Amino acid sequence: MKIYLIGVGPGDPDYITERARKIIKSADIVVGYRYTINTIKDLIINKDVRYVTLKTQEEIYSNVLKEIKDSEKICVIPFTGDSCFSESEIVDRLREIFGDKNIIIEPGISSIQVAAARAKVALDKCKIITFHITGNIDKEKEELIYALKKRKTVIILPRPWDFMPKHIVEFLKDNKIELKEFDAEIYERLTHNEELTYARLDEIPEKEYSDLIVIVIKPR
Ligand SMILES: C[S@@+](CC[C@H](N)C(=O)[O-])C[C@H]1O[C@@H](n2cnc3c(N)ncnc32)[C@H](O)[C@@H]1O
Repeated sequence: MKIYLIGVGPGDPDYITERARKIIKSADIVVGYRYTINTIKDLIINKDVRYVTLKTQEEIYSNVLKEIKDSEKICVIPFTGDSCFSESEIVDRLREIFGDKNIIIEPGISSIQVAAARAKVALDKCKIITFHITGNIDKEKEELIYALKKRKTVIILPRPWDFMPKHIVEFLKDNKIELKEFDAEIYERLTHNEELTYARLDEIPEKEYSDLIVIVIKPR
């Protein structure tokens, strides 16, 4: 068996690489979250598709393992954006379940790459922080403060729904970051139905932001 973890971009199928398309078309089984699978829906017509949720994924993956472990079958597990960014909890678990030697990772275009392009910032000069993780985010919060004190551009994946723009602003204010010295570009639904909110950090509008959100904070 071969298990491909494939980044399929942030949502618009135009951002799926040619290589990812070829592998997805060759798959016997496709397993993943509904939102991500929707991105590749035109490539998987008539395929054996299994939808997972946070609750069902362990059982579904172990069933797939039982079915194909002694075969030449190909299973594709698509990831939003790139599977090597902000997906490590599930990627590490899949490496355990299926065995590292059976896993092949194919890169995709990450939401942070698209945000960097829209914001015209160099990724290598930014601090990139994902808060989209389970559990404690104190270390990530510290990194954010440190980067802003050093006046770095920061690209953030907030955490739905307890560390969203308004929480981030409150947290920075509490930690004596001079909000007036930074601009924020808030990108929602990148590549599909995009919306940009642009404001000084102390003037970010309070509204319901999407969970598909990347924030770029730039020193003024
Ligand atoms: C679990 S992380 C996955 C990141 C993904 N692996 C990547 O490379 O973009 C999920 C978060 O990615 C961000 N994201 C994914 N797609 C997005 C999009 N189209 N627009 C804005 N943010 C997006 C959001 O912050 C979302 O909550």
